[in-house]
Amino acid sequence: MKLLFIGDVVGSPGREMVEEYLPQLKERHSPDITIVNGENAASGRGITQKIYDQLLSAGADIITLGNHTWDNKDLFNFIDKADQLVRPLNYPKGTPGKGIRYFQAGSAEVAVVNALGRTFMNPVDDPFPAVRQAVTEAKRQTPFVFVDFHAEATSEKQAMGWYLDGKASAVVGTHTHVQTADNRILPEGTAYLSDVGMTGPYDAILGMEREAVLKRFVTGLPSRFEVPKTGRAILSGCLISLNRKTGKAESIERLLINEDHPF
Ligand SMILES: [Fe+2]
Ligand SMILES: [Fe+2]
Repeated sequence: MKLLFIGDVVGSPGREMVEEYLPQLKERHSPDITIVNGENAASGRGITQKIYDQLLSAGADIITLGNHTWDNKDLFNFIDKADQLVRPLNYPKGTPGKGIRYFQAGSAEVAVVNALGRTFMNPVDDPFPAVRQAVTEAKRQTPFVFVDFHAEATSEKQAMGWYLDGKASAVVGTHTHVQTADNRILPEGTAYLSDVGMTGPYDAILGMEREAVLKRFVTGLPSRFEVPKTGRAILSGCLISLNRKTGKAESIERLLINEDHPF
C-alpha cells in the first residue's frame, strides 16, 4: 500500500506545482492514495470550492487542512458536501466537517486523520486523546491509518509520533513549511516525519513575499503577507509504503522538487 502525501499547498504557485508534477509523481510511484494538505491553497489562507475541485482534478484523493481551515469563508458553503476533505479533528463538538475520512483505495480502505497541535498555536482541544481514539476506531475497520499532525513544535510532533507508534501507519507533520530530514520508521512500525514541507513559492519566506515578512521583522510594524504570484516554486512531499497485511510501514521517503532538486 503506497501513500503519497504533499505538504501545504500555498496559493497559485503551489497549485501550479501540484498540477504540473502530481500527475508525473503518480506515474512514477503509482500511489494507492494521494493526500494533499490544502490549508494555504487560497492565497495562503484556507481553501475554496473551486480550489478543492482543482486539487482533486489534479489527482488528490483526500485534502487535509490546518490552522488556516476557516480563513476563507467559502469553505462553509461546501464543507458539508466535501467528502474528500478532512479538517482538524480536535475542534469543539458541532464544528462543521470531519476530522477523519476513509478513502477506498482499490480493495482496501485508508483512514486519514488531521489534527492540530497546541504548542505555540491557538487554543484547541487536546489532540492526543482525540487522535488516539480516532486511530483506535479506525483500526477496527482498516490497518491503514495516516495522520497529518499540523503543529508548530517539533517536540509535540515527535511526541505524537511516539504516542501513536504501532497504532497509526504513519504520522507526518505539516505547518512549519520546511521539510525536515528525520524520516524514519519507529520501532513498532509507524512511519514518521516531523514536517513534510510546503508546496509553493521557493524564493519566499514560508511561501509569503519576503518584503512584507522582512518589514515586520526589521521595523516591528504590521504588514500584510501575500503570496508572490511569480518566481520559482517548490513541491514538498513524501512517499510511504505500508505492508499490505499489517498496515505497518516498510519505508518513508522524502520528495522535494525545485530547481536545486529537479524532478
Ligand atoms: Fe501551512
Ligand atoms: Fe498551518
